[in-house]
Amino acid sequence: MSNNTGISLSVKLGKLHLNYPVMPASGTFGYGEEFSDITDFTVFGALVTKGISLEPSNGNEMPRICETPCGLINSIGLENVGFKRFKKEKLPFLKKFNIPVIVNFFGKSIEEYRILASELSGLDGVSALEANISCPNVKEGGRAFGADPEIVYDLVSSVKESSKLPLIVKLSPLVTDISLIAEVAEKAGADILSLINTFPATHIDISTRKFTLNRGYGGLSGPAIKPVALKLVNDVHNAVRIPVIGMGGISLWQDAVEFFLAGASAIAVGTAAFINPNIITEIIAGLKGYLLNNGFKSIYEIIGIASAGK
Ligand SMILES: Cc1cc2nc3c(=O)[nH]c(=O)nc-3n(C[C@H](O)[C@H](O)[C@H](O)COP(=O)(O)O)c2cc1C
Repeated sequence: MSNNTGISLSVKLGKLHLNYPVMPASGTFGYGEEFSDITDFTVFGALVTKGISLEPSNGNEMPRICETPCGLINSIGLENVGFKRFKKEKLPFLKKFNIPVIVNFFGKSIEEYRILASELSGLDGVSALEANISCPNVKEGGRAFGADPEIVYDLVSSVKESSKLPLIVKLSPLVTDISLIAEVAEKAGADILSLINTFPATHIDISTRKFTLNRGYGGLSGPAIKPVALKLVNDVHNAVRIPVIGMGGISLWQDAVEFFLAGASAIAVGTAAFINPNIITEIIAGLKGYLLNNGFKSIYEIIGIASAGK
């Protein structure tokens, strides 16, 4: 999107065109309803939903959110309204904004991912799918789908076959070699990669001597994970040809600039929006100013240009 400054922030992620390269991170934006009264979506590159499953889920028991210095641990447990209610009650609202709608989704088996991808592809108003592969693979003893290259290949190729929509594969940081997983996802047909999801973490209340979260542990997000996320985004950018959506602890426009310099073609903001619902608008303004002040005309000119050495 060009404006009176002549700066272009629009990006093409394969077949997915975004007027702005910043979007909410899945699960921190619900289905958009709660945010629509308190923030302006005009400069959102996309609207990204909470992870949807075939059947509704209540998630984990409370307490399931806990603050830590520089971060948040959540064990929401992928609570969601399920495919049918999403289609009937949530998608009509999201469609109204004329901004691409990205539906984050997950399953308990590859078959569930496949069926859901096919069902979601049939819906008018869905622009792209984001497969969350950090979920437990019930058939394989609960190990995350995203941790095993062979399973990642089978899952991504199966989803790709059943959907014509651009497919974003959201990677887990909890792997030995994220570049390998990224390459496998690309080979299996992913159009875009997004990363990172949260890191397993916990907190203990020393007065009760109990874990603070009912489930005992959760996933860490927010500024605490930013340096790690930035490195992983750079690793993945160097490993694949497809575009990368970077996220993990972005809370200032300067953080966003770092992610573009590391190789992200777009970014997502999650935890920071709980503190500042206008964060995306502020990041867009900051990005424009940065490009202008440094003599760049387009966001493309800074993607992946960070270099080592003096
Ligand atoms: C409360 C909460 C719920 C989340 N739910 C999902 C989800 O449903 N699907 C998903 O792929 N990621 C989910 N995430 C992960 C975020 O999308 C994002 O990857 C992560 O929080 C890192 O970004 P941040 O540090 O900007 O929050 C969730 C994160 C939080 C904090």
